[in-house]
Amino acid sequence: MLTLRSIPIWTDNYIHMLDNGRHAIVIDPGLSEAVREVLDENELLLSAILNTHHHPDHVGGNVALQKRYNVPIYASTYDVEAKRIPGKVTPLGWGDELNIMDFNFQVLDAAAHTMGHIAYRFSKGVERALRGTHETPMPKSATNTHERYAFKLAPDLAHRPILFVGDSLFLGGCGRLFEGKAEDLLGVLQTFAAESPESVIACAHEYTRKNYAFGVSVLPDYDLLQGMLDRLMSSPTQPTVPGLLSTELAYNPFLLALTPGASTLEWAPDVDAEAPLERIRRLRAARDVFEQR
Ligand SMILES: [Fe+2]
Repeated sequence: MLTLRSIPIWTDNYIHMLDNGRHAIVIDPGLSEAVREVLDENELLLSAILNTHHHPDHVGGNVALQKRYNVPIYASTYDVEAKRIPGKVTPLGWGDELNIMDFNFQVLDAAAHTMGHIAYRFSKGVERALRGTHETPMPKSATNTHERYAFKLAPDLAHRPILFVGDSLFLGGCGRLFEGKAEDLLGVLQTFAAESPESVIACAHEYTRKNYAFGVSVLPDYDLLQGMLDRLMSSPTQPTVPGLLSTELAYNPFLLALTPGASTLEWAPDVDAEAPLERIRRLRAARDVFEQR
């Protein structure tokens, strides 16, 4: 049986793990200790590490895990050439296929948050998905988790393609533009919008409540979005990651901005309704300075 586990670390990060009951693959292991604990608890052996991009909260566990389990690490050619992925790394290009035992991944270009950012599509899906809870968040400095993780079955996520998107797309939002421009972000959003709406979005941060609060601030007349935010705020520690692309296509303001006339952007009434690039540029700038009340 194939299982997806989303392991919470620190205050809002997730490490995603796929396993076939015996061997496991981790995506963006920010912290080696957390991966080791979950592997040991479930009597799994690590087979590979996949990185979406070079930020330390995604690659921090690479070296310790590679040393302990002697496994390959995969990352984008861009990040490998820039020598910014720790460990001995195998480069991947856009469109590449990666086959590791039962697991087949396609590599997608997701460069905007950083220019080496890639995403991984796992089309086969899993029989069982488990969301990990952040009820007792660790301080960002923690290197040892010291406790067992609590996971809840997420039946809505089973038997669907899974997109491991790192920090390129979040539930209700997208990653900050550290290296890319709005043009790059537009391309990334179009890539994800063209994926099967059935897909699971396995992103790397629990930013959903703040993102939806931002969405409500720019789409104040969108009652369904307000209803979604109210539901989330009534259970503030409930994990939301992973989520579904179909939900994002209906509620994520950055994806809504792709469709002319799909939404009224209250904060920018002068923006041409036919210009998604300008909408996205302004949305990202507004989100960068947004404070949740
Ligand atoms: Fe990042």
